[in-house]
Amino acid sequence: MADLPSGFWSGWIMVVTLVSLAAVAWLTYSLYFSADAEEQPEVEPVWDNDLREGSKAPPMWWFWLLFAALIFTLVYLMLYPGLGSFTGFLNWSQGSRVAESYENFELNFADVRDEISSMSLVEMQNDLALMDTAERIFARECAACHGPDGRGQASLFPNLHDVDWQWGASAEQIEQSIRNGRQAQMIAWEALLGAEGVQQVSEYVLSLGTEGSENHPGKPAYDQNCVACHGIDGAGNPLLGAPRITDDIWLYGGDLESIKTTVREGRFGIMPAFGERLDELQIKLLVALLAR
Ligand code: HEC
Ligand code: HEC
Repeated sequence: MADLPSGFWSGWIMVVTLVSLAAVAWLTYSLYFSADAEEQPEVEPVWDNDLREGSKAPPMWWFWLLFAALIFTLVYLMLYPGLGSFTGFLNWSQGSRVAESYENFELNFADVRDEISSMSLVEMQNDLALMDTAERIFARECAACHGPDGRGQASLFPNLHDVDWQWGASAEQIEQSIRNGRQAQMIAWEALLGAEGVQQVSEYVLSLGTEGSENHPGKPAYDQNCVACHGIDGAGNPLLGAPRITDDIWLYGGDLESIKTTVREGRFGIMPAFGERLDELQIKLLVALLAR
């Protein structure tokens, strides 16, 4: 038991406790049973004109009350921790109580957990109670960033219920995102392309997939700098977290100004890793919740 005092301080506490108890016992005893207790003073002092200091012994039930309290204290100190580092004969501690109930918990739920772990994702998704649990985990761990319903927030945290998955939509890829986290690297292009280049390539991004984009003045810059990650047609690459930029779903905003800001300054979205924070079952539940 690391949190109980040891060595000198333990001994000190014992001595102080026991000496105080003995003093209280002696005081009680002397009040009732010593020779002085019987003696009556010759003159009873009077204070403030009419306040007399009486000399009657206190009632006997006080004595028994104090006596019982003392016995209780001694028994308590024998059984439970309280006297320095002495742990008491019952060996009780809050820590061991927690450990005990944790063990019970593990025992009680081991079967249930095994059963759930062996379920397929589809089976989990069809189990309303399990999906409820998954949503509670989501609310606790993920909603602060991804929003209470997982639909994204603040043009910073992606919607997890749309069809666009930057890092891939398969159960394995989603599990990777949750377990290991993700770090997007979209560097800033202004130094390389200049303001004019940023403008053109951003306009080109908006024109992707439309008629006439073939001859757009931003195309050469795109083909040279962006294709490696976003693909020739802007479909993106889940291995790099490069999003599809031909659809209407935008993380950082799809108007020209937002796209220019993205291209000019870069974007470095970070999804924290949850592999250490959540256990296997919790991660599996979240994957079942998100992968559809
Ligand atoms: C090294 C790979 C890489 C290159 C090269 C690259 N990007 Fe990106 N791009 C990314 C990644 C990764 C993201 C996601 C950033 C994030 O989530 O924080 C991204 C995000 C974007 C977005 C924001 C999409 C949204 O949903 O808001 C735009 C627009 C974009 N890139 C345009 C471009 C353009 C234009 C170029 C070329 C000038 C380019 N990218 C070059 C990797 C790249
Ligand atoms: C601190 C904020 C934060 C928290 C908390 C957080 N995320 Fe994320 N998450 C992000 C950001 C930011 C991204 C986008 C990263 C990027 O730009 O590539 C992301 C991306 C993801 C992706 C990939 C999306 C895609 O399009 O591929 C998944 C899946 C995901 N998060 C799931 C979760 C789950 C499940 C939780 C809760 C266990 C969670 N996130 C908690 C910030 C967070």
